[in-house]
Amino acid sequence: MNAPTRPENLAPFGEDYGPLLTGPFAPLADESTLTDLPLLKGAIPTDLNGVYMRAGPNARYAPQGRYHPFDGDGMVHAAHFDQGRLTVRNRWVRTEGFQREDAAGRATHWGIRETLLGRDDKPLKDTGNTDLVAHAGKALALWYMSGEAWELDPITLETLGRSKAIAQTGGKISAHAKVDEITEDLLFFDYGHDAPYMHYGVVGPDGELKHHVPIPLPGARLPHDMAVTEHYSVLHDLPVMHDPEAMALGRHKVVFRADMKSRFGVIPRYGKTEELRWFDFSPCFLYHVVNAWEETDARGRWITMVGCRYMPVTRPDGSIDEQRTAKDIAELVMHARLWRWRMNLDTGATEEQCLDAGHNLEFPSYNSALTGRRTRYGYFVDHSDDVILQWAGLRKCDLDTGATLSAWRDDPTQSWYSEPWFAAADHPQSEDHGYVIAFQWNAAEQRQTLDIFDARDLGQGPVAQVLIPRHIPTGFHGCWFAASRLKPRS
Ligand SMILES: [Fe+2]
Repeated sequence: MNAPTRPENLAPFGEDYGPLLTGPFAPLADESTLTDLPLLKGAIPTDLNGVYMRAGPNARYAPQGRYHPFDGDGMVHAAHFDQGRLTVRNRWVRTEGFQREDAAGRATHWGIRETLLGRDDKPLKDTGNTDLVAHAGKALALWYMSGEAWELDPITLETLGRSKAIAQTGGKISAHAKVDEITEDLLFFDYGHDAPYMHYGVVGPDGELKHHVPIPLPGARLPHDMAVTEHYSVLHDLPVMHDPEAMALGRHKVVFRADMKSRFGVIPRYGKTEELRWFDFSPCFLYHVVNAWEETDARGRWITMVGCRYMPVTRPDGSIDEQRTAKDIAELVMHARLWRWRMNLDTGATEEQCLDAGHNLEFPSYNSALTGRRTRYGYFVDHSDDVILQWAGLRKCDLDTGATLSAWRDDPTQSWYSEPWFAAADHPQSEDHGYVIAFQWNAAEQRQTLDIFDARDLGQGPVAQVLIPRHIPTGFHGCWFAASRLKPRS
C-alpha cells in the first residue's frame, strides 16, 4: 500500500544545513499525540503492553556553526501500547540548554564541532539526545559526552527535571547506563577531560545514589558504553581519545592509538576503586555492548561480554590506519562485527573472538529483563557501510554462535529503521517470546510506519504495521519500558 505521509510539520531548515538536517534527518517543528492510527498490516497485539521509546536529535533552531547529530535538541518519540490501543507521542527533552534557547528564541550554543575556546558565552549544549533508560518508573534521557540525566514521564514524555541522584554526585552521567531490572539498580559511569577521567556509580530502586567511586584512567578517553553482570560492572578504557593539542586550542579532534590496548575494568557492583581489575585486549573501539554475564567452567569463573566491535580501518598490508579509523569514529561511520570478550576472574586469562565476520551489526537490543544475565538472543540493525545512521534491515542473532536466526528487509535501499527493541509479551514462555519494535521511514515513498515483529521469527515480516502521518527523524537509541515497570516500586 502506497501511503505517502510527507509531513507539513518539518522545521524550516533548508539544504544549506546539509544532509544531517534534511531528508531522513529533517527535524520536526512541533510535538504531537496521535491515536487511532491506521493499520497497514495485522493488528496491535493485546499481549504487548508498555512503551517503546526512542531518543534522537531534533534541532529546534537553525544551528550556529557546523552541526553534528549530537548537537540537535533531544526529542523522544514513543509508542505506548495498552491492551491493543496505541498512542504515539513526540516531545522535546527540556534540558537547560533547550530552556535557554526557548527563552532566547534562537540557538545560543555552539556544537561539538566548533572551537569552544573563549566562547564561554555560548557553551556546549547537553542535548539529552542520545540514549534512554527506564529506571524507577521514569525514563532518563542521557547524552553521549556525559551530561545530566533528564527525567521524563514515560507516558506523557513530560520532562520532570534533573535526576537528583546524578546531580548529587557533583558529576555527570554518560549515555548507556544500565538497569538491572531484577534489582532495579541503575549502574552508570561518566567520563571527562580531567583526572581521574571516569567515575562509576549505582542508583538504587528508590532513586537514591547508593555508590559513587573514581575510576582513574591513564588519560582522558572517549568511552561510549559499559556492561554489567549480576555482581560486577565492566568499564571501558579504549584507545580512542581527544587529541590533546587540539583540545588545548579548544577543538575536538578524535584520535585512535593502534599502539595501545583496549582494557576492560571489572569492579564489583558496589566495589571500591582498589577492587577494580583491568583485562587487556586487542586495540579497538566499541560503541555498543549487547549484554554481559557471569559463567563458570573447568577453568574458573568468567565474565563474558558480547558487543559490536568497531573494526579499525586497515591498510592493504593489514596495519591499522589510525587516521581513517578516528575520522570514521568521529563521523559515525560504523564498521562493526559481533564480538565476544571473556575475562577469567580466577586466573586473569582473556579470550576474544569474532562471532560473525559477515555482517555490519550495530544498535543492539536484547531481552532487557535479563540485563547482566546470560542471554542467547540479540536483535540488531544491518548498518550501512557508508551512509551515516542508515539501517535498512533488522537481524536476530545467536549470541553464542553469531549465527543469524532470522532477518528482515522491507526495502533494501530505502528503509531507515530506528533502533529495534525487544519487548516481552505478557507472561512470556521463553527468552524470545515477545516482539521487536521499530519505526521505519521509507525515503522513496516518504512513508513513516511503526513496525512490530514476532521476535521468534523476524523473517515473516511485521505482524503489525501502523501508518504514522508524520515523519520521525533518524535518531539514536531506544528502550522498552514494560507496563509492569511504569510505576516505581513501592
Ligand atoms: Fe550509543
